[in-house]
Amino acid sequence: MNRRGFLVALSRGSLATAVIVAFGQVVRFLSYRPADGPATVFAVGRPEDYAPGSLVYVSEAQAYVGCNAQGLYALDAVCTHLGCLVERGAKGGFVCPCHESRFDAAGQVLAGPAGQPLRALRLWFDGEQGLLFVDRSETVAPAARLAV
Ligand code: FES
Repeated sequence: MNRRGFLVALSRGSLATAVIVAFGQVVRFLSYRPADGPATVFAVGRPEDYAPGSLVYVSEAQAYVGCNAQGLYALDAVCTHLGCLVERGAKGGFVCPCHESRFDAAGQVLAGPAGQPLRALRLWFDGEQGLLFVDRSETVAPAARLAV
């Protein structure tokens, strides 16, 4: 093989390699599947876990699940100011440990800096599994209750 033939073969080999690599990248791009986002639905126990008057923090769901005379409900424990987790307050409400926003038992703002109430989260009962579920991605009216 002379010099010219060697350079032609080298060029063709390089081009073939580039085409194969590019094809592989296209296949990889087209087959990309993004990872699932964080879970928003959490099992929070059975209805009988929540006695009338109870309010329980469910850490997996970052929510308080309570039961009053109207039924079961779920409140987001994430503070609407900057996202810290609120804690139970002395008078039945909630206090944020970060900047001391205070919320009443229904999640309404009593004192800022938070300007929005705690979110009321969708709560439902799955009869097949016998479990309650909370969906952190869905809010409901603050007075919404699940009859038990
Ligand atoms: Fe709750 Fe600032 S994060 S008051």
